[in-house]
Amino acid sequence: MSKLPPCTIVIFGATGNLSRLKLMPALFRLDSEKRLPEGSKVLAFGRRAWDRQQWLDEVAKMLTEKYPRGYDEEAFLSFSEKLDYHQGDLEEESAYVELKEKLANSGNFPRNVLYYMSISPSEFCPVIDKLGKAGLLQEQHGWGRVVVEKPFGYDLLSAQSLQKGLTRHLNENQIYRIDHYLGKATVRNVLVFRFANLMLEPLWNRNYIDHIQITHSETLGIGSRAHYYDNAGALRDMLQSHLLQLLALVAMEPPAGMDAESLRDEKVKVLKSVRPIPQKAVHAHAFRGQYSAGQINGQSVPGYLEEEDVPGDSVTETYAALKLYIDNWRWKGVPFYVRTGKRLAEGSSAVSIRFKQPPQQLFRGARLDQLQPNWLLLGIQPNDCLKLEINVKEHGTAMKTRMISLDASYHEQSKGAQGDAYEDLILDVIKGDHSLFLRYDEVEWAWRVVDPILKVWSMERDFINTYPAGSWGPRGTYRLFDREDQFWRHSLSIDGNDVGSEAY
Ligand code: BG6
Repeated sequence: MSKLPPCTIVIFGATGNLSRLKLMPALFRLDSEKRLPEGSKVLAFGRRAWDRQQWLDEVAKMLTEKYPRGYDEEAFLSFSEKLDYHQGDLEEESAYVELKEKLANSGNFPRNVLYYMSISPSEFCPVIDKLGKAGLLQEQHGWGRVVVEKPFGYDLLSAQSLQKGLTRHLNENQIYRIDHYLGKATVRNVLVFRFANLMLEPLWNRNYIDHIQITHSETLGIGSRAHYYDNAGALRDMLQSHLLQLLALVAMEPPAGMDAESLRDEKVKVLKSVRPIPQKAVHAHAFRGQYSAGQINGQSVPGYLEEEDVPGDSVTETYAALKLYIDNWRWKGVPFYVRTGKRLAEGSSAVSIRFKQPPQQLFRGARLDQLQPNWLLLGIQPNDCLKLEINVKEHGTAMKTRMISLDASYHEQSKGAQGDAYEDLILDVIKGDHSLFLRYDEVEWAWRVVDPILKVWSMERDFINTYPAGSWGPRGTYRLFDREDQFWRHSLSIDGNDVGSEAY
């Protein structure tokens, strides 16, 4: 059992999608692995007129959905002892006064309180305001911390006003802006690859690297999230947050230390160095698309416009690809191609680094195959892996080369043993460790990167390129590449390497 002091975790939006899919399962696992501090409680704040038993039944349903093959009933019994339900309307001040009484007087709830905002971004400020007015954010009897989910704002301006709203009642130390991507094992490993292995560092710059690709692709559609997603789109949902964070980790300088401020200082320097995209250059740097009906794993799936609650004339992008340059000493001139999409051919995330060709093609005269450039591939999901593709001579007397992949797949064999990023991140909040959470200036600089694109796309309401579900995205994205020999790297295996050379 963890030695940390116990705390109360209050979840706003406890019946929502995020809570069902991520938060409650993560808390359940933390509890069953005895990683939650002893004596901790989880209190759901919900509008529905439920009693505690109805909430327990609902949590059991969530866990059944998450673990269709079953979960440990005994572990659930122990978890359910920690669960409680507070009925109240988010918009009513009285609900917060009652919450305060419940937390203070029942003797049941530890006085360190973590408030988890698993609600829509437009509700963050009003809820924090009411918590503040009820005196629930003062740290007199224990700490009071707030976890804010992304998107942090809708664009630069709204992020600034959200920040103002939060700091009216909270100091920066109390705010945890979560980006669950930073909790993923391989994302955290990026720093270890880079800074624990001397051999990579001398190559990690514009002298040796031709370009870098960062991809997050999903086979899933938007499910029942139209209300959120149709207002967000892929650029806000994935790229401004998760993928720019990943880019910052790949591109940053070595930090002075591994503490939160040193790490965040370096990430922010990268984001500040991203070359601004003027509105007139948006089409040369950004490409968007929307899925139409198609096939995923042999099953027909509807197009985005046919999804529940999506307006028939929506031009919200479900695919976004960008070309970015980082104008600093290390990366000047190296394109970073970043893309994400729903209903694509495969669900995977990876960083693919293509090295330059050797300065002299020594073997060309000997009628050898054209040498392929080296690639370094960091697979993030579904499997953690590190692969390095290098040229070797084939067996036999002829001087022929082929590419082989040095494959250091190190993902855990047993999928069941892998935890979700949310588990570690929730624990980090309880520990008071900010290193995997975003500082406000990171968020603001990330908005500055995408803001011009958002502006142009929001004015172009008549047309969006489409792509059939199950494909690799809209045709024409190759226009983003600087040269003809650059192409999307869809697969981490050598055999799949040339799939991307098609005209996508
Ligand atoms: C979320 C996005 O932040 O990240 C989702 O809102 C996306 O649209 C998800 O599907 C991807 O993260 P993961 O961990 O499920 O790959």
